[in-house]
Amino acid sequence: MRGLRDRVRAEVGKVLVGQDEAIELMLAALVCRGHVLLEGVPGVAKTLAANAVARALGLEYRRVQFTPDMLPSDLTGTMTLKGGELVFRAGPVFTQLLLADEINRTPPKTQAALLEAMQEAQVTIEGESHPLPDPFLVVATQNPIEYEGTYPLPEAQLDRFLFKVDVGYPSEEDEHAVLRLRRRGVVPATLEDVGGVVDAGALADARGTLDATTVSEEVAAYVVALVRATRDLPSVTLGASPRAAVHLVTAARAAARLDGREFVTPDDVVRMAPAVLRHRLVLRPEAELERYRPDDAVQTALAAVPVPR
Ligand SMILES: Nc1ncnc2c1ncn2[C@@H]1O[C@H](COP(=O)(O)OP(=O)(O)OP(=O)(O)O)[C@@H](O)[C@H]1O
Ligand SMILES: [Mg+2]
Repeated sequence: MRGLRDRVRAEVGKVLVGQDEAIELMLAALVCRGHVLLEGVPGVAKTLAANAVARALGLEYRRVQFTPDMLPSDLTGTMTLKGGELVFRAGPVFTQLLLADEINRTPPKTQAALLEAMQEAQVTIEGESHPLPDPFLVVATQNPIEYEGTYPLPEAQLDRFLFKVDVGYPSEEDEHAVLRLRRRGVVPATLEDVGGVVDAGALADARGTLDATTVSEEVAAYVVALVRATRDLPSVTLGASPRAAVHLVTAARAAARLDGREFVTPDDVVRMAPAVLRHRLVLRPEAELERYRPDDAVQTALAAVPVPR
């Protein structure tokens, strides 16, 4: 497993500078059967990261640009007449890695259709269920700057994403490295060179052994204490849910597996906590005005709960 992560990182590194966190969390989400929300301003390579990871993992990849006029059926598919018979024509959601670009530009009904597919791993049309491929990973993107005419995802829907990754600007050094990559005009020249470096068996192995990854009583108690601590923070009106605790334990298991371990350490929990918790906390307006961020709240909770040793 450790080899898997390093191989993917190296392969993706042909076209992408940095973004180690996004790469690791996409892998972890795949292992957990969870989904990822990438937030970042335009041009920080969110699309490129998802595309390159799909290639390195040999996954079928599709990108859907969410727009205000998009209907649920544009995503899931429709019944159409074919030779006098009604048949299901599968929509673009039927793929292994779906990049749902700018998910907050589409109205709630279409967002709900995507979230339902994520939750149930299937699409139901006219009473008939159509299973999605396995693995199935949604990488949704949103822009942190609220434009007019966007539809922010409600808390209940954010909670369904295993991870939220904040894709920031690269460091100065990385920004230089980006300029040195080969390109054709403005297009990355080497995206086609990013090839599958992971056989399907290795990924299936990691997913198969995930639930057998040991979580000690101490580590479980730590997760519970941490999640509960987020509910008591004075800066927070809505803390992390029991679902968040389940997600945090599962993510820590994936982190352990990606490190080649069969047991979870408290450090796995600490490492995964920001990406699992940051989008589930709602801050008090006063705290937001003081530029206190959900990440600060997560750090406060982490500092408040002693790490078992
Ligand atoms: N870290 C990086 N490594 C390599 N190339 C980068 C990096 N950051 C930006 N680029 C360059 O910038 C281009 C823009 O990336 P991309 O289209 O993936 O951004 P995006 O975050 O998806 O933007 P948008 O929100 O507008 O869709 C890439 O094709 C690449 O040429
Ligand atoms: Mg993009």
